[in-house]
Order: sequence, then structure tokens, then C-alpha cells
Amino acid sequence: MSDDQLEPGPVVRMRGVHKAFGERRILCGLDLELPPGRTLAIMGGSGTGKSVALRHVIGLMQPDAGTVEVFGQDLASVGQRELAGLRERMGYVFQEGALVGWMNVYDNLALPLREREGLSESEVRPRVLEAMERVHVEGSEHKLPSEISGGMKKRVGIARALITRPELVLYDEPNAGLDPEISRSINDLIREVSEALGVAALVVEHRIECIERVADEVLFLHEGRAHVHAPTASFFASDEPRLRAFLGPLSQHPAAVTTP
Ligand SMILES: Nc1ncnc2c1ncn2[C@@H]1O[C@H](COP(=O)(O)OP(=O)(O)O)[C@@H](O)[C@H]1O
Ligand SMILES: [Mg+2]
Repeated sequence: MSDDQLEPGPVVRMRGVHKAFGERRILCGLDLELPPGRTLAIMGGSGTGKSVALRHVIGLMQPDAGTVEVFGQDLASVGQRELAGLRERMGYVFQEGALVGWMNVYDNLALPLREREGLSESEVRPRVLEAMERVHVEGSEHKLPSEISGGMKKRVGIARALITRPELVLYDEPNAGLDPEISRSINDLIREVSEALGVAALVVEHRIECIERVADEVLFLHEGRAHVHAPTASFFASDEPRLRAFLGPLSQHPAAVTTP
């Protein structure tokens, strides 16, 4: 199904994206570019439109102005079927985790393969076991989501996002609700899968420590725009005043910054 990729352009390109809800202007000319194989973290205050930006990438929201291209395709110019095809090349890990509560881990992971790819059980099984191994949850296939810890659920959520072998993975606050120790292991896992699979990733995250572990680049979303977008080390060294104000005085010691 994939077209010949003559030149590897950005996996995601948003240009001048504006989005308002009624009177409330959320995105006001957002530019964002994600090169192949890179992990870009989006950082910004609560309610600044980070999740809204991700929803534009999936095509769940359309910009009022500006363009959103994914895999080189302008989402405004594709039909429903093409959009569905593009979405199949993406994996999502959302805050809620969204595992099916009455299905065990195995069936949760098998679901997209059975439903979307129509694979037979003999094809499904090795894929599920491989995914479980990748996120280090071997042996829990018969457990229900309610029988495993929050960190394990998150791992299974990541496995499910990866099981269809996406080229782009979107993580919306993958560490929300997890304690620091578990967050650290989830960050290491995100890093590990990105490197092993060479996928591009967009990670919405606000903890500096997490971003430093997972991201190649960071974008600071403020007042609807990308105020700073730079490789991780130079991002945190930036003296852009709005970023400095956001990071606050503790930012000299990133590990000391905690979630509000
Ligand atoms: N579908 C929607 N309808 C109306 N307002 C929305 C909708 N989605 C998000 N918003 C508003 O847009 C703002 C940004 O939301 P969001 O992207 O979820 O913030 P965050 O940066 O914390 O992820 C919030 O004020 C939110 O209430
Ligand atoms: Mg959000």
C-alpha cells in the first residue's frame, strides 16, 4: 500500500495552524516539524493546546487556518478512506490508557490485528508475544487490566500502540498518574522502542526529567505558537524569556522540578 518515498520529508508538518473554540483561540499559528525517526516532545502549560495539536495530527480536528501534513499528505485534501489508511500508520498512547476492561492482556493486544489487519490466530500469536516481550510484560497475557499495576497497564498500552508496526507514535502525557520510579522506566521504554523500531514520536509531556530522557527535540507551546523548538540540550539552555518564565527558577536543577 505504501507509495515510493523518493525523499524522506518530515513525518509531520504543521504550518500556521489556527484553532479556536468559540471565542477561545487555542492554536494561533503553530508551526511544527517532525523529521523521520526523531522524538519531539511538546511542552507547555495546562490547557495550552498540546492535546489539541495531537488531535490535528490524527485528523480528529481540522484547523481553522493553516495546514497539517502527515506522511507528506495534506490532511485537508484526503478523503475518509485515505485518512483511515494514514491513521493505520500511527499508534497512540493516550492518558487514559484505554485498554478494554473485560479483555485480558493478550486479547487487548490481538484486537487491532484481528480487526484492522484481519490476521489469522497463527499470525496473531507471535506478534502479540513479540509485543509483550518488547515492553517487558511477558507472562501476563491472561490477566485483566484490573489485575495489573498502573505501570504495567501503561506498558500494555504502549505495546498495543506498537503492535500494528506504526511509523509514527503519539504519546499524550504517558506518565500521568505514575510515580517517579515507574515514570522513569516508562520513559526508558519509550526511548528503547523508538530506537529499536526507528519510529518517529510526538510526546506531550511537562516533566523536564522525562523530556530529557525521551526527546531528541523539544517544542515549547505558548499562546498557541511554538516559541522555542530546538534539540533537547539547547532547548533547556535557551534564554527565551517566556520559556525561562515557564521553567522557573528551579530549572537550573531540572531533577528538582516536580509536577504541580
Ligand atoms: N473539543 C473541544 N471543544 C471545546 N474546547 C476544547 C475542545 N478540546 C479542547 N478544548 C479546549 O482547548 C484548550 C486546550 O486543550 P488541550 O489541548 O486539551 O490542553 P492541554 O495543553 O492541557 O493538552 C482547553 O481550554 C480545552 O478546554
Ligand atoms: Mg492534554
